[in-house]
Amino acid sequence: MCNIDHLLSRQHAIAEQCAEPLPIPKFNTYCICNLRGGIGKTSLSFNLSYLADNVLAVDTCPQGNLSYFYNPNYFNSRTSTYDMLLPYFMPGFGKASHVAQRIEATNHFFNGHNAFYIPSTDMLYNFASTMSFAFSQASALTGAQQQQLIDTMLFSLRSEIRRELAETSTQKCLIDTSPFFAGATHLAWHATDALIVPVRTDQQSINSLSLLLQSLSNPASPFLRIMPSNNHIPKIQLVVLTHCGWSTRAGARHQPNQQTRVYLEQVRDLVARYITHFTTSIPENHIVLLDDFLGSGRISTAQSKPINLLTAGESATIQRVRVEVNSSVEKIKNQLLFINNSIW
Ligand SMILES: Nc1ncnc2c1ncn2[C@@H]1O[C@H](COP(=O)(O)OP(=O)(O)OP(=O)(O)O)[C@@H](O)[C@H]1O
Ligand SMILES: [Mg+2]
Repeated sequence: MCNIDHLLSRQHAIAEQCAEPLPIPKFNTYCICNLRGGIGKTSLSFNLSYLADNVLAVDTCPQGNLSYFYNPNYFNSRTSTYDMLLPYFMPGFGKASHVAQRIEATNHFFNGHNAFYIPSTDMLYNFASTMSFAFSQASALTGAQQQQLIDTMLFSLRSEIRRELAETSTQKCLIDTSPFFAGATHLAWHATDALIVPVRTDQQSINSLSLLLQSLSNPASPFLRIMPSNNHIPKIQLVVLTHCGWSTRAGARHQPNQQTRVYLEQVRDLVARYITHFTTSIPENHIVLLDDFLGSGRISTAQSKPINLLTAGESATIQRVRVEVNSSVEKIKNQLLFINNSIW
């Protein structure tokens, strides 16, 4: 059983910048997902994309929050994730290429970074029904032909990402997803070998982690019902417990507050129970804590500025309210660096 004290002493070492990166395998493409909204998927995708050089960030969420971080006018883009995927599900449309855009062209905080993004579009809101219609049409075919068509559709995002990585000379890829499985998230699970799963410190987020684990393990789940010929199922690389808070009691600074502890224990139990779905067999390799961003998150979002560029005491006026970067930002920067150093 994974020991909570071990996780907490590692968090302390992370804050002090003396933790060894996690002994986990490395992958080129990660899908940041959980089946719940507002838990930190996009914030984590954005901040990790800043830390990883030679990176391609792919926005598959119709809300387009990640695209907005890179470019507030992203919706004027000629081509998007949707245009890359549509030809696989509605034959007749031309295949897209060179869709990725250089991030530094529209977000100056990325100056000098070899980093690209593929923008989202609100057309992705209806994509789940386009996909489901195409899968039902595939059922009219039989045998090898049917499986070949299903493979092509399920691996559409994977194929498109491979092409864009080659075209942009990038090696690392982060895919941000919507809170829903149906649609592009389904394809994102097949486009990656490993998932990074943010879980917020609340009961609904624990429930969504449990739902995600069932989706990966229950043969009747919508994910496992339509399988490619190689039976590809992504493993989970990390569960990132977000919005963590710490004790304010004297002498207990490195102890999580009661809420964080309760949900950390539940995460620990779920990870241990489903450990065969993780990239190693050791539960403590797969749980990290990320502090509540507080004012740092608000300023980062308002200015599209990576958290690792913020300094404590920096302030901004957001909707006529003065917001300050709190002193915990240094700890958060170290937590983000630790995740970055562990996954690539
Ligand atoms: N530790 C943390 N990690 C990530 N986000 C945090 C954290 N603490 C606070 N936040 C805040 O949580 C809010 C929600 O984050 P975000 O938009 O990344 O969630 P999401 O999961 O992508 O939501 P959606 O499902 O709607 O796309 C943001 O305001 C962010 O600043
Ligand atoms: Mg999001």
